[in-house]
Amino acid sequence: MDSAPEGVDPNVPNVARMYDYYLDGKDNFAVDRAAAEQILETFPHTKEGARANRAYLRRAVRHLVESGVRQIVDLGAGLPTQGNTHEIAPEARVVYVDNDPVVCAHGRALLARTDDVDVLQADVRETDALLDKLGGLVDFDRPVAFLMLAILHFIPDDFAYDLVAKVRKVSVPGSRLVISHAVDATPDTTPQAIEIYRRATAALSLRTRQEILRFFDGYELEAPGLTYPNGWRPDDPDAPGNGITFGYVGVGRKPDNA
Ligand SMILES: C[S@@+](CC[C@H](N)C(=O)[O-])C[C@H]1O[C@@H](n2cnc3c(N)ncnc32)[C@H](O)[C@@H]1O
Repeated sequence: MDSAPEGVDPNVPNVARMYDYYLDGKDNFAVDRAAAEQILETFPHTKEGARANRAYLRRAVRHLVESGVRQIVDLGAGLPTQGNTHEIAPEARVVYVDNDPVVCAHGRALLARTDDVDVLQADVRETDALLDKLGGLVDFDRPVAFLMLAILHFIPDDFAYDLVAKVRKVSVPGSRLVISHAVDATPDTTPQAIEIYRRATAALSLRTRQEILRFFDGYELEAPGLTYPNGWRPDDPDAPGNGITFGYVGVGRKPDNA
């Protein structure tokens, strides 16, 4: 992008555009690239990690569709990239949610003529209002999969656990919770990452494996459980990011008796 759209501060690194840079996208400004480069200096495998996260999204979304889920809400969807959820799951109704106006504008432009896909600009921390709006876009009497990929680590505890609990409450059995989450496992470098993101549009709330596992309370974790991204039903022995342990991923199913 050459110039900032109205209402966008081109001087503040933006987490959606930094992630776009990790994925070699073009929708980022100098300030995003500079902050992303600082992260890459501290965590040189971040680009592979972002790719591994997208590959996990692809495998998890195919699993949802193969399991019969036909409604997917993608929270913190990010800038459109290769392999967007509605392209992986053309059989499903997809609602993209993000609080970033640029993400939503790009999403709407991409989807101008796509049936059964919506883009909702909303902040997941305002969970009641979000679920209210979603009630008009998906049928909560049927299973819904909520994707929360690389978003919960931008949401502080007070909001994050409440969000997941409220999502579980409105979901019928057979609904899914799909998570990927950066882990707080590198005490020597984590403070630097926290400092870089503190200056960006969303600060990091890194969590331990145990804290990430807690999000699945009330769900049955589907096989193989909470794993590193490339450990979840791998389908490519040469996938970028093999052996990278930047975070955990998992898919939970709301049980039939819940
Ligand atoms: C790292 S990107 C992840 C994109 C995609 N989910 C993926 O995993 O490939 C995080 C996204 O979460 C969005 N986000 C951060 N905080 C949010 C909030 N409070 N409400 C809604 N979206 C948020 C950002 O705008 C960004 O697009």
